[in-house]
Amino acid sequence: MEMETLRDLYVEELKDLYSAENQILKALPRMIKSATHPKLKKAFTKHEKQTRQHVKRLERICKELGEKPTGKKCVGMEGVLKEGKELISEKPDKDVLDAGLISAAQHVEHYEMAGYGTCRTWARLLGYENQAQLLQTTLDEEQQTDLDLTGIAESTVNIDAED
Ligand SMILES: [Fe+2]
Repeated sequence: MEMETLRDLYVEELKDLYSAENQILKALPRMIKSATHPKLKKAFTKHEKQTRQHVKRLERICKELGEKPTGKKCVGMEGVLKEGKELISEKPDKDVLDAGLISAAQHVEHYEMAGYGTCRTWARLLGYENQAQLLQTTLDEEQQTDLDLTGIAESTVNIDAED
């Protein structure tokens, strides 16, 4: 694909996000299964549902643009998720694992937030206000997930892991 305009860059970043979201959808069942604290399991399960919507929003945006969302692999997300996978395979104590899972998930959220914030700004600049709003909705959900995870870590999981 040619990369000459901001629109080209925007479409590439959307494809990157689409790949990232689909990789997350694949990883979440493993994270839900590995989590012990009920609040954490619940937060991951809620985010799995939201992630399906994130995928749909990206499909809708790409359709509007007349572009395919597929065809790119987000190697950044692949690396972030690999670190989470490695942690699980090391079989740490369950409370320590929960603390590590939160850390892994927050790395994922921040990676996504960078992509969505960028795409939202570019969409606005390119005059795609409807797309900018869809991207903002997803960004808000990623941010809320990140805040929820901080809350779970600080109120229980980190404390249990330290004992
Ligand atoms: Fe997402």
